[in-house]
Amino acid sequence: MPFTIAIDGPAAAGKGTISKAVAAHFGFAHLDTGLLYRAVGAKTLDGTDPIAAALALMADDLETDNLRTPEVAQAASKVAVISEVRAALVDFQRAFARRAGGAVLDGRDIGTVICPDAEAKLFVTASAEVRAERRYLELAGKGMSVSREEVLADVKERDTRDRERAEAPMVAAKDAVVIDTSSLGIDEAVAEAIAAIEARRG
Ligand code: CDP
Repeated sequence: MPFTIAIDGPAAAGKGTISKAVAAHFGFAHLDTGLLYRAVGAKTLDGTDPIAAALALMADDLETDNLRTPEVAQAASKVAVISEVRAALVDFQRAFARRAGGAVLDGRDIGTVICPDAEAKLFVTASAEVRAERRYLELAGKGMSVSREEVLADVKERDTRDRERAEAPMVAAKDAVVIDTSSLGIDEAVAEAIAAIEARRG
């Protein structure tokens, strides 16, 4: 039986960690939709047209190592305002969402645009400072030379662009359960997410 869990929220809110844990808990497949936009954004850095890049996107493009840099994140949020780019990625995401055996998708517009009928919706958030600190530690832990200031600026700039765009802006779906992870540890946040989803499973 298909069962779709939509997990949206701002940059570095913990969607990835929560999504992976939720997918493992329920035995569902997981799609990090941010990777699709990052892969398109990365291609534009060498001058490729974003719409052409989105239309030609291949599974291999998502395996690239350098998609997690702040530079690629910025490029992702810039291509993400283009309606033709978003349209090119819709069918793949919807097919993934309805696969047999259940799916978890995380992003910005999953509960609102991609899967408005998702069986369970979460909106995961935290203060910009907490999110930036977590992302800084994550990137520094991978050996990237980034500063706290640079990471906070990236997070704030993308949040504003993602929230204010005309097409599929980042917003909590009316029927989403909001989880603020500012003062929650990973285990607590995952437990809240699973409890909220269990409540929807009936
Ligand atoms: O990991 P983080 O939360 O920092 O970002 P991400 O989920 O990898 O997304 C990177 C960028 O892709 C976002 O800033 C959005 O502009 C865009 N995005 C989007 O527009 N819609 C989605 N469903 C997922 C990501």
